[in-house]
This record gives sequence, C-alpha cells and structure tokens, in this order.
Amino acid sequence: MRKPYIAANWKMNMTNQETERFINAFLPMVKGITSVDILIAPSFVSLGTASRLLESSNVILGAQDVYFEESGAYTGEISPTMLLSARCSCVIIGHSERRQYFSETDEIVNKKIKNARKNNLEVILCIGESLEEREANRTFEVLDGQLSGSLKDLSLEGMTIAYEPIWAIGTGKTASKEQANEAHAYIREWLRKNKEGADSIRIQYGGSVKPENIVDLMSQPDVDGALVGGASLKPDSFAGIVTGAAQK
Ligand code: PGA
Repeated sequence: MRKPYIAANWKMNMTNQETERFINAFLPMVKGITSVDILIAPSFVSLGTASRLLESSNVILGAQDVYFEESGAYTGEISPTMLLSARCSCVIIGHSERRQYFSETDEIVNKKIKNARKNNLEVILCIGESLEEREANRTFEVLDGQLSGSLKDLSLEGMTIAYEPIWAIGTGKTASKEQANEAHAYIREWLRKNKEGADSIRIQYGGSVKPENIVDLMSQPDVDGALVGGASLKPDSFAGIVTGAAQK
C-alpha cells in the first residue's frame, strides 16, 4: 500500500508575507491528517519563513530546484546543503517549466538528482509529454527517454515520480483518470523492468489538479498522489485536495 502524497508547487508565487498567511490558515485545515504525506515547495526566498512555521507540523518542506554542484562560483544557484540548512527535506527536479524555459536536459536533471540524493534530499522527478508528442502517439517513447536519461545510474530510493503531461499544466485541461492511469501504469512497468522497488515508489499526477477532480484521479490504482500548481495557492483549495486524497 502506497501512502498518498500531495505536493504543492508554488512556482514563482507568494511573498514571505503571503507564505506566512497561507501556512497559518492551512495548518489548522489539515491538522491531524496523517494518512497523506503533504509537502509545500515555496520559492527559495520563503523557505526560511515556511521552515519556521512548519516545524513540528504534519507538512514537509520542499524546494523547487537545486544545483548539481556542492558550492562555489555559480551565481544565483542553490546547493543541497543550503536546502538542508533551511530544514528542507525534498526537492522537485526536472519540472517541465525548467526544461522548457531554462533548457534543462535529462542529463542536467540526472546530475541534479545525483547531487540531491548524495545529500539525502528526497526527490520528486517530473516527466511528461507535450501535446504534439501525445498527438503524434509518442507519449511512451518520450517517457522512456526521460526516465532512462534522468534516472541513469540511480536507484529508486528516496524518489517520487510526478507524471505531468505538459498540455494539462496550468491549462485547466486535466488528463482523464484513464489517461493518467495509463501513463502511470506504463511508468511503473518501465521501472519494474529497469530498477528495484517499482511497486513501492509513488507516482503523482500533475496538471490542473483541483478539489473537484482529486478523488476521481486518486481512484486509479497507479495514481498515488498529486503535484499541484495553481490550486495549491489558496489554503482551502489545497486543503480540499489533501482531504480528497485522504479518502483513498
Ligand atoms: P497546475 O501545475 O496544477 O497549475 O496545472 C502543476 C505543476 O506544474 O506542477
């Protein structure tokens, strides 16, 4: 049995003050929920504030990215040690927006995961196809390439996979539960063939998840949680997703 895992990816949203207001409102809404792992990934600037407010709560603190070097002359970058010093225990790597706008390749993603894992940070690896790739029936081929490139020479320990079809991100167009499960089942089968521990790894779905569709998505056998963007920016909406997932 895989424990449901709901993660908030705040992207480039929320100031320190907004982070504080959100967390103060959100924590009472999810108090006592232990059947779902809950994560919030604010911007780097808000990690300190979030860390202080989430201490001894049931919410895990995550970051949205990490660099593949340990330290040094890399202006603007953030190391695993810095994330750990903010009591961050998890990092999202390879989000499609990083791949699309910041030219992240599977090779870079692989180096970032290695650095995170070496420092014992848990990782949420994001993969998923574009609309053109889906329409050209290339979804599985794209997933194969992203999985083999991103997970090269890595075990599944400390890993979560987020399947996020790019056409569903921020568009209001959610994949149907069947489409999501088909991709998740394919990913799990790939992991079974290539790695140890495929049956215990959690696969989150991401792309326009909201309180209204989480129960439906979670009803699928291979959907173990969600990575949520837009609907994670309001405490009641994110709490609605968490409580929906708790029904699984
Ligand atoms: P969305 O974003 O929920 O706003 O579609 C999901 C994500 O990019 O992780």
